[in-house]
Amino acid sequence: MPPAEYILPGVERLLISETTLHAKVSELARQISADYQGKRPLLVGLLKGSFMFLADLARELTLDCEVDFMLVSSYGNGQEATEVKILQDLTASIQGQDVLIVEDIIDTGFTLQKICGLLAERQPASLKICTLLNKPSRRQVALSVDYCGFDIEDVFVAGYGIDFAQRFRCLPYLVVAKKPG
Ligand code: PRP
Repeated sequence: MPPAEYILPGVERLLISETTLHAKVSELARQISADYQGKRPLLVGLLKGSFMFLADLARELTLDCEVDFMLVSSYGNGQEATEVKILQDLTASIQGQDVLIVEDIIDTGFTLQKICGLLAERQPASLKICTLLNKPSRRQVALSVDYCGFDIEDVFVAGYGIDFAQRFRCLPYLVVAKKPG
């Protein structure tokens, strides 16, 4: 029997437990803290999906960071990417700053291709990508990913900030959602 914590209507199975997630977030935070030692990076969270990951990652970094957000949407309520829409931009210039984009998941790569292109034009000192999850089998554009938590198979993942038709974002672990219908 699976633990009761993830038996929810619409959930098929647990994908990554809270314990495993937190261990990986700590590992990423150690790497990032070492790489940016002596710098004050700007963490750019892509909302909504990254809110939980960024909050956990940021508090484990042994760095003096700044934080800003972009509200970006590619999927809406569907499972296929449409157009990458920037619903809310950063609040300040990033010129000369060490920018680390914090993303929950890279699927086709279209979202980060667009965001990286846009941010690179603003002349940051550096621009890197940190993603919790990566679906290599779905990639449609080449991307250089600097920090990655887990490569996962092509499943309907949800939880830990990630939605499935806007559901399950607030679960503290990752699940596989049941296929529609
Ligand atoms: C999801 C996810 C990434 C993007 C990845 O965002 O948070 O930003 O899709 O997909 P891609 O690599 O195919 O571009 P979504 O549009 O679902 O918005 P959300 O973060 O508000 O859930």
